[in-house]
Amino acid sequence: MTNRRTFIKNSAAAAAGLGISSSLPASIWSPSTVLGANDRIRVALIGAHNMGWYDLEDLLKQPDVECLALCDVDNRVLEERTGWFRDKGLPVPSTAVDYRTVLDNRDVDAVVIGTPDHWHCLPTVEACQAGKHVYVEKPLANSVGEINVMLDAARKHKSLVQVGQQQRSGVHWLGAMDFVKSGRLGTIRQVKFWGNFNYGAGNMPVPDSEVPEGVDYDRWLGPAPKRPFNRNRFHGSWRMFRDYGGGLLTDWGVHLIDMGLWAMDVQSAPVSVQALGGNFANRDRALEMPDTLTVLYEMEGYNMIWEHNGGIETGPYDQNYGVKFIGTSGTLVADRDKWRIFPERDGDEWRMDPVAEQKSDFQSHLNHCENFVRAIRYGDPLHAEIGIGHRSALFAHLGNLAFWSNERVVYNESKRRITSSEKADALITPEYRAPWKFPVV
Ligand SMILES: NC(=O)c1ccc[n+]([C@@H]2O[C@H](COP(=O)([O-])OP(=O)(O)OC[C@H]3O[C@@H](n4cnc5c(N)ncnc54)[C@H](O)[C@@H]3O)[C@@H](O)[C@H]2O)c1
Repeated sequence: MTNRRTFIKNSAAAAAGLGISSSLPASIWSPSTVLGANDRIRVALIGAHNMGWYDLEDLLKQPDVECLALCDVDNRVLEERTGWFRDKGLPVPSTAVDYRTVLDNRDVDAVVIGTPDHWHCLPTVEACQAGKHVYVEKPLANSVGEINVMLDAARKHKSLVQVGQQQRSGVHWLGAMDFVKSGRLGTIRQVKFWGNFNYGAGNMPVPDSEVPEGVDYDRWLGPAPKRPFNRNRFHGSWRMFRDYGGGLLTDWGVHLIDMGLWAMDVQSAPVSVQALGGNFANRDRALEMPDTLTVLYEMEGYNMIWEHNGGIETGPYDQNYGVKFIGTSGTLVADRDKWRIFPERDGDEWRMDPVAEQKSDFQSHLNHCENFVRAIRYGDPLHAEIGIGHRSALFAHLGNLAFWSNERVVYNESKRRITSSEKADALITPEYRAPWKFPVV
């Protein structure tokens, strides 16, 4: 199994083979409590249907990690997941429908939050307030206002908050980042991200229907507006509806934009953001987010561009998604499988030496979970601490705000306001439906 030591060793070897230096992402954050080497780490999962469960499975592969509680608003999910423990003859975690029951449990050291995006903020903030560490799925949350208050809570309470941007723990991504940083591509003039996925076109519409048995639908909606149940807006496909998710830009965008921010060492908001798009491809589908979108990020001395097309799965370089760094000497193109270099030339003269394709070892998620556990136990720096998740979510949300307002967006980071567009500024923080209250830190 890949542990952190082999992750560092592999990364260093990958980097050494390319004649570049290996640099793990630095974290400015350190844990408030470091557990002893022999202490068990007791985790609880909130939102167990899909990704949260996958996170828990890889956390349970780490030594001395146990699951004390599972929380979900769908009883069928809880039954299936507790069945997994029963089948394996493992102690069966307690179950809860209200996440606050889990947070009240003083034996829980850390929570995994695998709920839809509109349900990341409250449990994360309250977990920090309860002194827990948090592994929260990406995007950090569903709005700029929420990611800001989550950042404040983590900083105030000194919780370790790892965001589920597991590419930060991928050895081949680390090699790609180091290659870009080495300067061998020349001057980077543009960073481009693209994500073409069939699911981004939305499903065929279905009528509103009865709430499935065993589901506490009011709790699933939580702070989002009340509306009748519709299967298209539930497990998995909520992503294409504004009250719960931000479409392909926040779903895949945060992973890919994060690679641009990492390699280019971006520590601030973009200078400006513009976006154009719409539902152009499949006008009969059930979705609110644009199936077609281009976002232009003005940066100092270069540009970043996000582009997505829902409903297709082909793209540049024969990749349906990816990131490319366009330099004066060559272009680096990466996805989760590999990265490649396309050198430039002047006549017969190549501007850089060829570089062999670098393959992924597909261990990024396991490494990411191991990193979280080691951060709690030994104080290792987190690979995707909340500041990292905050920045890529900020970029993604600013893209959606530019699209919805149809105006150029300039975000003032110290004021936490959009100064260029009243329409976009008004959308920074969602209104929470009572009895849920937007958290105050
Ligand atoms: N890191 C990755 O590569 C990756 C991949 C897929 C999904 N994700 C992220 O994981 C999160 C979950 O996505 P998914 O695909 O698993 O969604 P999903 O709809 O399949 O599962 C979400 C689960 O959360 C439960 N839930 C909803 N509200 C709840 C509440 N208040 N308390 C407890 N449980 C609640 C739902 O009943 C459901 O079981 C999203 O933020 C998504 O962006 C990350």
